[in-house]
Formats: sequence, structure tokens, C-alpha cells
Amino acid sequence: MESGQKKDSKGLSRREMMIGTGVLAATTAVAHFGGLVKKADASAPQWPWPYKKLDPAKTAELCYNEWYRVFCGCAVINSVFKQLAETVGEPYASFPSDSFVFLEGGQVGWGTICGSPAGANITANLIIGPRIAGSPVGHQISADIMQWYSEANMPVFVPQNPKIDPKAIPQTISDSPLCHISVGKWMKAAGKPLKSAERKDRCARVAASTAYRLVELLNDWADGKYTPTHDFTCSKEHGITGQYNCTECHGDNVPTPPQG
Ligand code: HEC
Repeated sequence: MESGQKKDSKGLSRREMMIGTGVLAATTAVAHFGGLVKKADASAPQWPWPYKKLDPAKTAELCYNEWYRVFCGCAVINSVFKQLAETVGEPYASFPSDSFVFLEGGQVGWGTICGSPAGANITANLIIGPRIAGSPVGHQISADIMQWYSEANMPVFVPQNPKIDPKAIPQTISDSPLCHISVGKWMKAAGKPLKSAERKDRCARVAASTAYRLVELLNDWADGKYTPTHDFTCSKEHGITGQYNCTECHGDNVPTPPQG
């Protein structure tokens, strides 16, 4: 026997045994996973998810209050899903939509897409289904939301019991779905810092406004009378993925992307 290579009663070295155990563990894991997949298949809720019409104003109120718990994106999703958990049940009841709290601040404070349209678009696509499966409406409603958000004089919605006097909340048009630009333009107009109660209430109202608009669009779709309203197709118009406000960043010198 070579030194350091102790063999067991079957003549396997420790290393050989460990490899064997590894393979066994991996096989067990695959079998277990296979079982899980099978089980999930049998009981998996169908996607897209069922929808029952909601009241836009009630949804916006819920969203406004929910913002103070989970912030913009998650508040929009929860304002719709929590109601559908009651009227429809599953899969809404057990869907862990609080996981979308990361949408806050344009995703964990990085100022990219505002959580409100991001949350609205997640909601619409779970309810309507994906473009790649031949359901263009989820995609269209998402594009409507992006353009509506960029053009709206925000916040549109005034809650029944506002935490801050509406007179302290000016309205601004962001011309962009980006959190950084939307919040930045508002802070400049209001003269209020990011951590102010006014800025927070403004964002809670922006989320509520977006939830209101989303439910209007979903209700139209449920009634079979939805027609797309967006007309901004940046990649077609400009040959680059979208921004709504080229000159704000590029000045008069908007670059032309490579054509073809
Ligand atoms: C939020 C700010 C912002 C907006 C709005 C914006 N851009 Fe840009 N864009 C940038 C930045 C930053 C770069 C990277 C610039 C660089 O590296 O020189 C860039 C790069 C580009 C590029 C590739 C680089 C080049 O010089 O060719 C093109 C093309 C471009 N933008 C076109 C546009 C067009 C068209 C619009 C409007 C539809 C637009 N941009 C809106 C910030 C913006």
C-alpha cells in the first residue's frame, strides 16, 4: 500500500470514496430536483395569471399607503396583487411580491428605471403574458406606461388622507422613465432634499398614480376595449435603445449611432 493512501475494506482510497460520494450526492440532488420539477408541473399555476377588474382609485390608495412599507415598485405590484389574492386567490396569495422591494430608488438606489413603471410592467406581464408567447398586449401596456410616466405631470394622484399637504408637492414632467431624472427634476422644482418628507410623499403619489393608470389599462384589456396609446419606438426612430430626452444629456450634439 502506498503511503498516505489508506484503503477501506473494499479497496477504495479515501479520495475514490469521496468522488463516489460526490457522484452519489449529485445523482440524489438531480433525482430530488427532478421530483420537485414534476411536482411543480402538476400543481403549477397557469401563466398568465387570472385577472378580475379592480377599482383604480382604491388601488391607488392602497399603493400610496403601501409605499411607506415597501416603496415604489413593490407598492405598485402589491396594490394589485393583494386585491387579486382576495378576489382570485392563487397564485397571488402565495406570490412573494415583497421580493420586489429592490426596485426602490431606480433599483437599490441606482436611479435607473423608476420602480413605479417597473412594478407596473411586471404586474401587466404576469397578468397578460409575454410577447414571445404571442401576447403583445403586455408589451404594449408596458410601453404605454413608460410613455405615460414620462409625459405625465407627476404626481397625478392625490390621496384621500395625504400625509403631506398637497400644496407642498409641486408637479413636474420628467420626460424620462429614469428615477434619477424624475426625482431630480422634482427636487429642483420643490427645493426639497431626497430625505425630506415631501420627496417621500411625492414618490408615494407617483407610485399611486402609476397603479391607477395600470388598472385603467388592465380594465380596458379585460373589457376587450384596450388600444395602445404609445408612439415612441426609440430603436426604430433613432437606432438606439430608448431615451426620451436626447438633448438633456447630449445637448445639441446628439450622436448618430452606426446605421444598418
Ligand atoms: C440620460 C442621459 C442620456 C440620454 C437621455 C440619452 N443619452 Fe445617449 N448616451 C448617454 C451617455 C452617457 C452615453 C455614452 C457617451 C460616451 O461614452 O461618449 C450615450 C451614448 C450614446 C450613443 C453612442 C455613443 C456615440 O457617440 O455614438 C448614441 C448613438 C446616443 N447616445 C444617442 C442618443 C439618442 C439618439 C438619444 C435620444 C433618443 C440619447 N442618446 C439619449 C446619455 C444619454
